[in-house]
Amino acid sequence: MPAELAAAARTVRSAFAERFGRPPDGIWAAPARVNLIGEHTDYNDGFVLPLAIDRRVTLAAALRPGGVLRLVSLERGEQELRLAEVRPGTVDGWAAYVAGAVWSLALEGAEVGGLDLLLTSDVPVGSGLSSSAAVECATLLAARDLYSGPEDRVRLALVAQRAENEVVGVPCGIMDQMASMACTANHVLLLDCRSLAAEQVPLTLHSAGLVLLVVDTRVAHALVGGAYAERRRACEQAAQILGVAALRDATEASLEAASERLGDVRYRRARHVVQENARVLAVAELLRRGRPELAGPALNASHASLRDDYQVSAAELDTAVDAALAAGALGARMTGAGFGGCALALAPADAAEEVTAAVTAAFADRGFRPPGVFRVHPADGASRLA
Ligand code: GLA
Repeated sequence: MPAELAAAARTVRSAFAERFGRPPDGIWAAPARVNLIGEHTDYNDGFVLPLAIDRRVTLAAALRPGGVLRLVSLERGEQELRLAEVRPGTVDGWAAYVAGAVWSLALEGAEVGGLDLLLTSDVPVGSGLSSSAAVECATLLAARDLYSGPEDRVRLALVAQRAENEVVGVPCGIMDQMASMACTANHVLLLDCRSLAAEQVPLTLHSAGLVLLVVDTRVAHALVGGAYAERRRACEQAAQILGVAALRDATEASLEAASERLGDVRYRRARHVVQENARVLAVAELLRRGRPELAGPALNASHASLRDDYQVSAAELDTAVDAALAAGALGARMTGAGFGGCALALAPADAAEEVTAAVTAAFADRGFRPPGVFRVHPADGASRLA
């Protein structure tokens, strides 16, 4: 077990014993993710290429008689809930991700009861790295192991997504939960969001002399807000106008032919999705060939398309991308839903410091809050640690 995972496991084990006066029945962890490429394609039945990262939620849990969930976050306080009262719209804040996962597992037919649960997270919240999916997936594995439920990782990801869609109320796609459940170290996950077929594609950063940097703009994004749902709606309308089941089935030629009927906004949203799907497949092929250093132009094109056609970037994200590229990054883009959150930069290892300094300086010049810049490593998906 990596040293930082072992340390997090020790932390939650002793905090659990202190808080609940007994040892936990087990310890679980689930990672956050960054999406290398394939943004706003998952809910269009398209392709995504995320990786789990070495930032995660670690939790200790134990069975508890009766239907009560006693939940402790070392960062965000405590909540006590009755499982029978958990329904869409009844739980607020971080506890909704935990309670939602347990609720969703029960819908699978699992006999689920009470839990004592304590978690800690080193994922920046609201940063677009899917801290919420990490909470859902870690909780789900724990509740599944302590009670019962599906073995299959794809099914578990769908159960976690239902928690987020229905209890939290965010109409997200399947990417984040699949990344947290199914990624493996040193790989990205090429996911077909229609069939949910997944391929582990090697991400050979080290041997290519590359690093992956994440720039946290510290501008919070509020996914529950209307912009995400509005983008989804525009895509669904575009698919309907084109006469296809989802934009996955559209082509650039079919968009051109229908451009008047689509209207400018829907045309541009759809163009992003069609071109982004092609970029995902192209990057996956480069990675299969062991050539991650050639992925830069596709990452840059993805960012431009998200900024100009899909219109989900933000000044901070554009600044991070431009500064990283000017300082020697091979490619850079916003990652996640957008409107704030994080950007990623693929850079030669020996340019990492310069990229970090350049992004930090550019933020200062523009009067933005200082960003967080850190390196991420492709990590394993959710697992039981003890
Ligand atoms: C959020 C959602 C995902 C996906 C991305 C955009 O992270 O949770 O399902 O739609 O935005 O690619």
